[in-house]
Amino acid sequence: MNSHEKAIQEAEHSIHKAKASVSQNHWRLNYHIASPAHWINDPNGFSYYKGEYHLFYQHHPYDPTWGPMHWGHVKSRDLASWEHLPIALAPSSEYDKDGCFSGSAVEKDGKLYLMYTGNVWTGEDHESELEQVQALAISEDGIHFTKYENNPVIAKAPEGDIHPFHFRDPKVWQHNRNYYCVLGSRTKEHIGQVLLYQSHDLVEWNFMSVMAKGEGNFGYMWECPDYFELDGKGVLVMSPQGMKPEGVKFHNLHQAGYVLGSLDYKTGRLEHGPFEMLDYGFDFYAPQTTVDDSGRRIAIAWMAMWESEMPEQKYQWAGAMTIPRELQLVDGKIISTPVEELKKLRADEVSFENELLTTETSFSSVEGTSLEMEVTINSGQAEEFGIKLRKSEQEETVLTYNVKEKLLTLDREKSGAGPGGTRQAPVSLVDNKLTLRIFVDSSSVEVFINGGEKVMTARIYPSQLANGISFFAKGEAKIVRLRKWNMTKGI
Ligand code: FRU
Repeated sequence: MNSHEKAIQEAEHSIHKAKASVSQNHWRLNYHIASPAHWINDPNGFSYYKGEYHLFYQHHPYDPTWGPMHWGHVKSRDLASWEHLPIALAPSSEYDKDGCFSGSAVEKDGKLYLMYTGNVWTGEDHESELEQVQALAISEDGIHFTKYENNPVIAKAPEGDIHPFHFRDPKVWQHNRNYYCVLGSRTKEHIGQVLLYQSHDLVEWNFMSVMAKGEGNFGYMWECPDYFELDGKGVLVMSPQGMKPEGVKFHNLHQAGYVLGSLDYKTGRLEHGPFEMLDYGFDFYAPQTTVDDSGRRIAIAWMAMWESEMPEQKYQWAGAMTIPRELQLVDGKIISTPVEELKKLRADEVSFENELLTTETSFSSVEGTSLEMEVTINSGQAEEFGIKLRKSEQEETVLTYNVKEKLLTLDREKSGAGPGGTRQAPVSLVDNKLTLRIFVDSSSVEVFINGGEKVMTARIYPSQLANGISFFAKGEAKIVRLRKWNMTKGI
């Protein structure tokens, strides 16, 4: 057994020891990806390989806090039911000894290639004393990965106004006969930017250009870039650290969003428009996309946030993934919708129509802790209307639409344990109506607004018995249609 295999075996052993007790925790999610135990962050290596979706994730298998990063691994045939696989990467080499950081996957000659960042601390100060290189690992079966013998494949950041050490998160794609890769970076003066590389074989990489660079309030570091095309338009997704709030935007500690533009493959430069958020909630970071055989562009993000309180750590786990969302370009904006296959998890449908909403009302069987709900409300004469989720006598997670301000507010002040706070999304009614598709799981809520024009995602930590749902209005509104399903187990 080589040192990498040994490191994986030890990590697996640690997970195995912890997972039975972790599985008892009532906040464990029913249909969202999380590791069987201990810490996870970014989605990595999201890919469609030999007819199956593979998702890897940043993982510390020894503790529910961040530490030397491994890559955890799950796969699925349909994006609805997931299966755990053995840990794919462990930090066992000189160049990645302090972590196999984020990266991506691409298929070449029938093999699955992972390209990731090897991280080494060179001192105590992790902001300035580090070395990052880019490395490959290769698999024939999509399960066991061997690190490339001549790693690293990119040993040094390029010259120029490019920070020599903060240089990470390669996202690879193929275009015509070449491979390209974007890397998260910052200038020497700490302005976020993205670097573009080109390769003919995934092994030899040439730096092309700084593909895009922040101007104004655009953060000190851009992490986890991703580039793809939607409807012929270029999309650069990234997670800028350190943007300041502007109005209702950018209130998370770190942001995740995109710019639209067009990449000139000759110069490696991207001319682009303004930064847009992909999610207006609290817990959405480092999204990564893949494209499948039907041409859909699918995104998954880390459903948590750096430096946020995570009450599940007490139960030896931390972090989860959002549900997979299909991205489409509509009227020059990205809309995100839950992938169609999630409908397979629906059970026990109940539905109501044309219900007047004056004060606070509940409906029979419209309750639960793992559910999907689709509701269209006509604002009628109401100034304000909304929905309370995960309700008990003391707890509630509240969505309120203010008609005059055209704002939807997600309030988790009384959600239960864990961090509180509110987030807002600007939303216009369509023919006086608001349509929400809401996914609730044991410790999360994801709200898709008016067909996915905006999304709000949050972790919440209610008590197990908080399963009530009610609808309310100030003035008179009407529930045009309400459907609710229990969601069956997906992982
Ligand atoms: C983003 C990130 C990446 C890095 C990884 C380390 O959340 O900071 O830039 O590769 O997490 O776990």
